[in-house]
Amino acid sequence: MIAVQDRASVVCHDSRPMVPVTATIVEIQEESSNTRTYVLQIDDPALRSAYRFEPGQFNMVYVFGVGEAAISISSDPANNEYLAHTIRHVGSVTRAIARMKVGDKLGLRGPFGHGWPISRCRGRDILMVAGGIGLAPIRPLIYAILANRGQFGRVVLMYGGRSPSDLLYQKELAAWRDDGQMDLLVSVDYSIAQWDGPVGVVTDLIKRLRIRPDRTSVMVCGPRMMNRHVTWQLLRLRVAPDQLFISLERNMRCGVGRCGHCQYGPKFVCKDGPVFSYESIREVFGKEEI
Ligand SMILES: Cc1cc2nc3c(=O)[nH]c(=O)nc-3n(C[C@H](O)[C@H](O)[C@H](O)COP(=O)(O)OP(=O)(O)OC[C@H]3O[C@@H](n4cnc5c(N)ncnc54)[C@H](O)[C@@H]3O)c2cc1C
Ligand code: FES
Repeated sequence: MIAVQDRASVVCHDSRPMVPVTATIVEIQEESSNTRTYVLQIDDPALRSAYRFEPGQFNMVYVFGVGEAAISISSDPANNEYLAHTIRHVGSVTRAIARMKVGDKLGLRGPFGHGWPISRCRGRDILMVAGGIGLAPIRPLIYAILANRGQFGRVVLMYGGRSPSDLLYQKELAAWRDDGQMDLLVSVDYSIAQWDGPVGVVTDLIKRLRIRPDRTSVMVCGPRMMNRHVTWQLLRLRVAPDQLFISLERNMRCGVGRCGHCQYGPKFVCKDGPVFSYESIREVFGKEEI
């Protein structure tokens, strides 16, 4: 069993954060029509065994000759041999990754940012709310919680996808549902004949749930509008603003607080986030053009 960490103890190229290290793609898992999970192994054995991340952190993933994109780490933080990135192929870098195969090399810088503050949530109920690709940074959190299940109260995962075939990690979702260590509520925006679960937005799922707001810590990651509606709904249910954590997306360049690209009000998403408590961003949360 791993100890749940507050901060990653070792950073890849800690002294030279702008220099990527090479990693080899060892496996590619199809998730949906436009999303795959890439299992990677850092080439340098010393860096590989030293690499640690906390759930919710991200790497800058570099395609040689093309560019970099910020991508959350989606694998088990207890696995020191391999790490994974779940990537939706939307733009220049991610489409270049879609053309890669097992054995090809990527560059990695990271892990960067602050992840989910697990240690502040010990002894409390945990509600995780994910939409679409937002389940990727929540998956390491699930692994960490399940590895230390006795440290938490009730654990609930709510996950919304566009359609049944867009849901990530389908085998794991089924396993998590079956093993009974957490409650799982999954909904889709558009149904098909084989789907017998709820249809609708993920915020509808919250209405089905009775939470104990004074004992519940919430982790939210999804599209911007989902993040806002879920946050406002949970605040109305009286979840404490300092126990409501949201992972934000921003355009990134340096990843380490130097270039200003990811500025969010007075903060930088790369270095102060990507996970923020609502309390710390309440002045700017929900405002456009921030
Ligand atoms: C902290 C953090 C963690 C992230 N984690 C992940 C992750 O785990 N997996 C993942 O796939 N992405 C993740 N992203 C998002 C990813 O960094 C962006 O989608 C990035 O722009 C992709 O780079 P690109 O060069 O392929 O696309 P770009 O060339 O930057 O984008 C090309 C075009 O695609 C559009 N576009 C970009 N993103 C989207 C989108 N999501 N939907 C529709 N159109 C879009 C842009 O508007 C642009 O017009 C994360 C971002 C942040 C900040
Ligand atoms: S990406 Fe450069 S400051 Fe955040």
